[in-house]
Amino acid sequence: MQDTQPKSIYLKDYQPPHFVIEETHLRFDLFEEYSQVDSRLVMRRNHQQHAGYTGPLVLVGQQLELLSIKVDGELLTADEYQVEDDSLTINTVADDFILEISTRIEPQNNTALEGLYKSGGMFCTQCEAEGFRRITYYLDRPDVMSIFTTEVIADASKYPILLSNGNAVQRETFASGRHSVTWHDPHKKPCYLFALVAGSLLVKEDTFKTMSGRTVDLQIFVEPQNIDKTDYAMDALKRSMKWDEEKYGREYDLDIFMIVAVDDFNMGAMENKGLNIFNSSCVLANPQTATDSAYQRIEAIVAHEYFHNWSGNRVTCRDWFQLSLKEGFTVYRDAQFTADMNSATVKRIEDAALMRTVQFAEDAGPMAHPVQPDSFIEISNFYTVTIYEKGCEVVGMINKLLGDEGFRKGSDLYFDRHDGQAVTINEFVSAMEDANNLSLTQFKRWYKSAGTPIVDVVSQYDDVAKTYTLNFKQSCAEPFLIPIELGLLGESGQDLELVMDENTSSKGDSFNGGIFQLTEKEQTLVFTGIEKEPVPSLLRDFSAPIKLNYDYSRDQLLFLLQYDSDGFNCWDAGQKLALDVIYEVMSQQQANLPLMVDPRLLTAYGSLLQRDDLDHAMLAKMLILPSISYIAETQEEIDIHAINQARTHVQTILADALAADLEILYKRLNITQGYLPEPGQMAQRGLKNAALSYLLKATSGDYKALAVNQFENNDNMTDSMAALASLVNSNHSLEARSALDSFYQQWKAEPLVVNQWLAVQAGSAEYGHVENIQKLLSHEAFDIKNPNKVRSVIGTFAGQSLVNFHAEDGSGYQLLADNIISLNTLNPQIASRLVAPLSKWRRYVDQQGQQMKQQLQRIMAQPALSKDVYEVVSKSLSL
Ligand code: PHE
Ligand code: ZN
Repeated sequence: MQDTQPKSIYLKDYQPPHFVIEETHLRFDLFEEYSQVDSRLVMRRNHQQHAGYTGPLVLVGQQLELLSIKVDGELLTADEYQVEDDSLTINTVADDFILEISTRIEPQNNTALEGLYKSGGMFCTQCEAEGFRRITYYLDRPDVMSIFTTEVIADASKYPILLSNGNAVQRETFASGRHSVTWHDPHKKPCYLFALVAGSLLVKEDTFKTMSGRTVDLQIFVEPQNIDKTDYAMDALKRSMKWDEEKYGREYDLDIFMIVAVDDFNMGAMENKGLNIFNSSCVLANPQTATDSAYQRIEAIVAHEYFHNWSGNRVTCRDWFQLSLKEGFTVYRDAQFTADMNSATVKRIEDAALMRTVQFAEDAGPMAHPVQPDSFIEISNFYTVTIYEKGCEVVGMINKLLGDEGFRKGSDLYFDRHDGQAVTINEFVSAMEDANNLSLTQFKRWYKSAGTPIVDVVSQYDDVAKTYTLNFKQSCAEPFLIPIELGLLGESGQDLELVMDENTSSKGDSFNGGIFQLTEKEQTLVFTGIEKEPVPSLLRDFSAPIKLNYDYSRDQLLFLLQYDSDGFNCWDAGQKLALDVIYEVMSQQQANLPLMVDPRLLTAYGSLLQRDDLDHAMLAKMLILPSISYIAETQEEIDIHAINQARTHVQTILADALAADLEILYKRLNITQGYLPEPGQMAQRGLKNAALSYLLKATSGDYKALAVNQFENNDNMTDSMAALASLVNSNHSLEARSALDSFYQQWKAEPLVVNQWLAVQAGSAEYGHVENIQKLLSHEAFDIKNPNKVRSVIGTFAGQSLVNFHAEDGSGYQLLADNIISLNTLNPQIASRLVAPLSKWRRYVDQQGQQMKQQLQRIMAQPALSKDVYEVVSKSLSL
């Protein structure tokens, strides 16, 4: 354990900065052994917000070697400043002054991948959230915004490409073989948006004509071997730029927009002004190396980072408690974009599933926090599904409440009012309120409280009065405003016209366009003129991130599955039905009864295959049973093995029952057509491969030849990977082994493909030995310093191979803990993110819960725990 425990930082302690930095001039002299960073800061006291403050200047900095400090050209002597672990204090400064600081850093030894570091042969930076302090002493906080000019100097042959934010304004070559490029960014920005790249890169170029007629140069920089993998990202970028103009009226604001792909990166990508840096897995694709899901991820992330130019960069966050201001809103924007480019219903289903499995679990665990947290120890731990996805849901609810037009008025006002500012979530909501002339006071609770609200609904039909009553009760003592989209299905499955009884429905209800605003602890709606008892379709489109309970009968679910006009609820009815059947099998298991699967489930899934109103993408989604992690999330006490056994049983019975039809479907869809990454083809491949993976679960018939054949004959990675995965995840170990071996031989020179190869093995759903994971960890293709490889093996193992991670002897937990301990010193952010699967130990059956806890205690006892790991482990053990 550490001698001094890391401290929490509180939102309530926020104070504006005492100084502002008008201009930031940086010079980077990059060498192999060290890099020298010279800064010249034009500073003044922040009299506006701190009238009369005459105290010292305190800058933050970490792991910097200080060479010299000058104030207004005068070298400071040792008694004029103090250097501490994380700060530099200058005792006396004037109201306005020029501060010059020289420091040295060692990017080549930076394994944390924050600040300036080396990825392969190139230099790159990652400054969000607090990485800039590893580059130079500075006011590293998002409310200090400055104009940056950056000169980068390096060896011209090793690093022909030198990039930073904004426009290149000057180039020089020196006799020494070094050269320099100076960049100037005309937009004020916080230092977390600073970026620098130096390397030997090739560039893919294109242009975009903005709505006002300006031409923007678009450039994607990659290592030479990847230049054939840039087309799709460029295409996605142009579509994003156009979409943001049309949907939000937002035009790009520089003459050049650059993307750089790097192999070593802690996250997906980063929205640095004019110079986005991407994890190569989120930007590089061609049909031979990337799957359809990789293409979809690239489209979404390119859009996400581009959209940050307005929601994040032009208008940024005042402090890191406001992180969701940019992330929640930007995720919402990229979700709208994805919905517009592809199937909106399928996108909604995927997002809701992510909320219900991952975010609800976070909300129920020791790291639960509000969308606007009120404290943290390490901000890097707060790049969470709550900040991102729940933050997106909250923005989505505002859109539902205001309507599309009102929401657009609100976003226009927000961008206009706060352009160039660092603001709070509250200011975002105020803009929405002001533009629409209404109050969202009660609604704001969504930002401030952790946890998932529960709404219990009961219904009553009055046969005589022909009324239908829905009663809603919400769990929280202080009620939320919850938009609940709903409909009532009549006898033949049609949506009934909803007429409210004004007198008997509880007061203050607003019911608009199918959306009911639940505002009180308990409320009742009475619908009149209902001739027969209807089936309610509740929480359509997943209109709020809540758990809604209504006691559906299986027949009602079958009815919704067949008729609900809301695509999300149609899918959800199938999920609820399957869940209910799986629960039933679990209780049969427990009581040692013969296992019986309700035949209605088989008929229902079977008839999905005959429906022509469902498109391929939707059908593929509907055929997949609820995931083990979703089932787990619905359980009071989690027994992964019992869940897996029941789910596998149902899946096998389904596979056997549907095999003949699935085979026909498979063969009908398995046509070669020249790979294109477009929605229609992707949906077709998705459905075909869903059918294939079912077929390989069948006990009757022998379908492995289909998989082997698809593995050997295809023109794209999607089909290749799907065949490989279906072999690995079914009982065909010989075929799986030989496919894995030949795959590796074919692809070992392509790191992104090798990562998928590692992941498909690490994530195996088949019971196996934890030693398999050990083998992957000592394979030549593994490298613990590369976050993508860690995610592929360790992350996938703990997150997807649940039966093995939860191996009865505790070996899975131990393996994870061993690796967290190794990563704690190498890369604390990555180490800390891997703690999540252990952190929910209290929810697991006793023996497993205790084993998980022991591993957490073992981690806690390590010397020199990083703040990142300390925060998650200590909160997991104490709460
Ligand atoms: N801001 C990045 C995003 O769009 C995420 C990120 C955070 C990347 C921190 C790197 C470090 O979502
Ligand atoms: Zn983001």
